[in-house]
Amino acid sequence: MQFFIDSAEVEEIRALNACMPVEGVTTNPSLILKSGRKIEEVLEEICSLIGGPVSAEVTAEDYDNMMRQADILAKLADNICIKLPMTADGLRACREITANGHKTNMTLCFSANQALLAAKANAAFVSPFIGRLIDNGGDGLQLIADIRKIYDFYGFGTKILAASLREPGHVSGAALAGADCATLPPQLMRALVQHPLTDKGISAFAADWAKTGQIIGG
Ligand code: E4P
Repeated sequence: MQFFIDSAEVEEIRALNACMPVEGVTTNPSLILKSGRKIEEVLEEICSLIGGPVSAEVTAEDYDNMMRQADILAKLADNICIKLPMTADGLRACREITANGHKTNMTLCFSANQALLAAKANAAFVSPFIGRLIDNGGDGLQLIADIRKIYDFYGFGTKILAASLREPGHVSGAALAGADCATLPPQLMRALVQHPLTDKGISAFAADWAKTGQIIGG
C-alpha cells in the first residue's frame, strides 16, 4: 500500500518526506483554505517536492467548468492528478481527462456502486472516505474490501485510495482490506511510528548503556 499525505501545508510535507514514505499527496478545497495560500502556488511547490501523484481538486460542479479548471491545474506540473467529485458531470469529465492523458481521482466515494462507476470512467484512483462514512453509521473498511473484490473480479485497474482516515487502526485496516494507497493527515502519519513499548524499550536500553560507561567509537 502506498502512503500519500493529505495536506496543503508545504513545510509539513517537506518535513515528513525526510523520514516517512511520502509517495503522493492529496489536497482539497478545505485544505487549501486552511493553508491560507493561493492554490496554484501551493500545488507547484508540492509537486516540486514529491514525485508521485499530487491530487488537485476542481471546484466547479458542471462539466464545462470542470474541464476548464482541470486544464489549468494539469498545466501546473506533470504529476498533477485531477480530483473530481463523484457526480455524473464528474464521471464525464473523468473519462475525458483520462482520454487526454492525465491522471484522475474520483473523490467523495461512499459506495461500491460509485467505485464501479469510477472504474468504468477509467479513473486512475477512487477515494472512498472511510472516516466520514463511519461518522454516518457506515462501515468504511468493509467498503474498501467490497471495492477490492469487485475490482479484482472484473480486472479493473483503478487504484483504491483510502481517504478520510482518522486513526492508526484505519490505516492498517485499509491495508488489510486491500487498498492500493492511503492518504493520511500529517499527524496520523506521525502517529503510525509510535508505540509505548518502543518508547519503553528505548529508555531501558539507554539506562543500561549508561551503566556500561562506554562511548561508541570512543
Ligand atoms: C482525500 O482526498 C480527502 O482530502 C481527505 O482524506 C478528506 O478527509 P476528511 O474527511 O478528514 O476531511
